Amino acid sequence: ISLGIDLGTSELKTVLMDSHGAIRGQASVRLAVSRPHAGWSEQAPQDWWQACVTALAQLRSEHADAYAAIACIGLSGQMHGAVLLDCNNACIRPAILWNDARAHAEAAQLAQDYPAFSDVTGSLAMAGLTAPKLLWLKKHEPQAFAVLDCVLSPKDYLRLRLTGQKITDMSDAAGTLWLDVPRRAWFAPMVEACGLRLEQLPPLVEGDAATGTVSVEAAALLGLSGAVVVAGGGGDNPVSAVGIGAVNAGDSFISLGTSAAIVSVTEQPLGNPNGGVHSFCHALPGRWYAMGAILSGASCLRWATGVLNQPDEAALLALVEAGLPLTAPVAADAPLFLPYLSGERTPYNDPQVRGAFLQLGHDSNPAQLGYAVLEGVAFALRDAMAAVMSTGATVPHCLLVGGGARSQYWAQLLANVLGREMRTLHNSELSASLGAAKLGFAAIGETGLLAGGLEVKNSFMPDQAQHAALNRRYEKYRSLFPAVQALHQ
Ligand code: XUL
Repeated sequence: ISLGIDLGTSELKTVLMDSHGAIRGQASVRLAVSRPHAGWSEQAPQDWWQACVTALAQLRSEHADAYAAIACIGLSGQMHGAVLLDCNNACIRPAILWNDARAHAEAAQLAQDYPAFSDVTGSLAMAGLTAPKLLWLKKHEPQAFAVLDCVLSPKDYLRLRLTGQKITDMSDAAGTLWLDVPRRAWFAPMVEACGLRLEQLPPLVEGDAATGTVSVEAAALLGLSGAVVVAGGGGDNPVSAVGIGAVNAGDSFISLGTSAAIVSVTEQPLGNPNGGVHSFCHALPGRWYAMGAILSGASCLRWATGVLNQPDEAALLALVEAGLPLTAPVAADAPLFLPYLSGERTPYNDPQVRGAFLQLGHDSNPAQLGYAVLEGVAFALRDAMAAVMSTGATVPHCLLVGGGARSQYWAQLLANVLGREMRTLHNSELSASLGAAKLGFAAIGETGLLAGGLEVKNSFMPDQAQHAALNRRYEKYRSLFPAVQALHQ
């Protein structure tokens, strides 16, 4: 049995997988985000560990036989967070997360001072990535920076608590902006540009490599054998890719969670950092991926559900489906929505831009506004897809994962907007924890599951007439960005 642990932003999810790839148990624990100032987003790493202990206790009591047979563990986690440790491995302050925008000035500074670095690091300096956060810390919390011994990515804190070791993997390391992505090695000039020394970063392994075994202390606490091997693991998007079998060039998927991303796997690092694309290392050796990342995905639907005073997302979706069935083209003058609720990464790299509703009239109703939100997120993903394809990566069709994949309506709308087939999958909400479990098996030499995917649930083909009508609305949508950007400049 392999234990897969996915440290998300809103939830820590665990699965027990047997060597045939079957799910033998699962347990999840909710996590809260703290936003002490506008634009900040933090979590205490100790809470992640507590959530992990709680989830494993539940697995142990509900699936005792499978739990007792755990031989390996794989880790997946939210990317780009900064876990800041002192020389006793204690957290100096809460972790600064991927969706924290405080370091926007530092990101702009890095981009201005070192324009050529993005070809090495695979991405423009963006506020959400790890490196600018350390420059922010140096400037604004110098006493914390002075006692900093090591920076870890979120899931690597769980590894520290499980094994006592500070190690990271290539895919999470790529998300820090400190990695030489083509060479899969730390990039000293960028590390130094942030006032850090290479010794403050953990050693690097591939996601399918063994990083050690569970410590005596953790084994006793969790009821595990001390021989359990912990794999390198990786960032949530690349590990999800492993979970759904997106491991070869051209395999592409959309993850529609709190944020959203469109990912295409590549066999070389293909960059276009100026297009706002992230060209990062995959969680498997010899593989990379091109990703367009948008900051607000299904979280836009959650937001709209609240402001439109609907009991839950399903209720708003039901209004949209009844009011604007996808069998008829949407009116050209229907409301439009720009989904930049927390700024945008791909293609604009603008953490300060904000969203908008446009084309409102006296007749605009919750159904139309809800539709506009779903469509606006789809348009943002179309921008992101164009950016991904500008690298030479291909997007023949997309597998759909994340909470947003539960809506068939949204899947069809995405197919119509992107002009691509969308495929939903069974168990896709577990893609990252399943990918983590597969990497766990790989670390003990059982690589047979790596190429396998998840069973297809539904396929959504683009409707060409709708695609044409949506193209015209997409052109309008694109033309609006300069206007909202000018509002904060
Ligand atoms: C990817 C990204 C998010 C986080 C949070 O670049 O920022 O997907 O990994 O899940």
